[in-house]
Amino acid sequence: MQVQLSDQVALVTGAGRGIGRAIALRLALAGARIAVNDLNPDTAERTAREIVTAGGAAAAFVADVANKMAVQMMIAECLERWGRLDILVNNAGVEPKASVLTLDEWDWDRTLAVNLKGAFLCSQTAGRAMREQGSGIIVNIASIGGHKIPLKDRAAYCASKAGLVGFTRECAREFAAYGIRVNAICPGVIETEMTAALRQNPEQMRKWLEDIPQGRLGRPEDVAELVLFLCSDAAAYITGQAIHVDGGKVMA
Ligand SMILES: NC(=O)c1ccc[n+]([C@@H]2O[C@H](COP(=O)([O-])OP(=O)(O)OC[C@H]3O[C@@H](n4cnc5c(N)ncnc54)[C@H](O)[C@@H]3O)[C@@H](O)[C@H]2O)c1
Repeated sequence: MQVQLSDQVALVTGAGRGIGRAIALRLALAGARIAVNDLNPDTAERTAREIVTAGGAAAAFVADVANKMAVQMMIAECLERWGRLDILVNNAGVEPKASVLTLDEWDWDRTLAVNLKGAFLCSQTAGRAMREQGSGIIVNIASIGGHKIPLKDRAAYCASKAGLVGFTRECAREFAAYGIRVNAICPGVIETEMTAALRQNPEQMRKWLEDIPQGRLGRPEDVAELVLFLCSDAAAYITGQAIHVDGGKVMA
């Protein structure tokens, strides 16, 4: 896709690896300056270096998206550095595995804190800056597991992603008056570290592939291309949506 984001600044959370990294690289390729957030300083630095080495502009911002002070400082630093914030991608996420009957309370709380509260904190702080600018784009990375289908042993995760889809809609309604569009993306199974262990299991792979009409798992780049589209003027009239990128696994 030919999209020009040359004078824009994008903050991508959880961009040290996986889907977030692919989104950061794609938006950078379109010309945006990228604030690469991650909890892990090494991977955040690595993604930022990759962008700079390829001729783009980026800096690492290490922060826990579940921590209000850390989020506020991160966005203040981003604004100080580049003077604006045009795009926020709430991508950071965790996925503890346990049945409802065995799930630890700490894991429940942490999952909701990172996947849902993190998106709220980043959207609130970034939304204030975007309102001042009179424009902005927020993309929340949810999941098919939070929208249409349950995922085995992922109760906290599914609850957090369903919450994120609900938050996306209300945020889109409220922010429309300020020229800010807010959408969610619901990826299917994507080839990242998050799914690495399950992808080693041939039985699990067979089941997944049987259910995906396009006959392959998704790549981080499949999600990144949709983020780019949602950040482009071609998506100017799209807000409050939860869009699947899953090879046809879930058909609405
Ligand atoms: N991989 C999939 O199949 C899949 C499917 C649907 C949705 N998703 C969603 O896409 C997003 C990215 O997934 P992924 O597969 O790339 O995962 P990943 O585990 O490979 O990467 C997640 C990144 O988020 C960072 N992170 C975790 N907690 C953080 C925090 N509190 N603050 C800042 N950074 C934090 C991690 O350090 C890591 O770099 C997640 O929200 C995930 O739920 C993934």
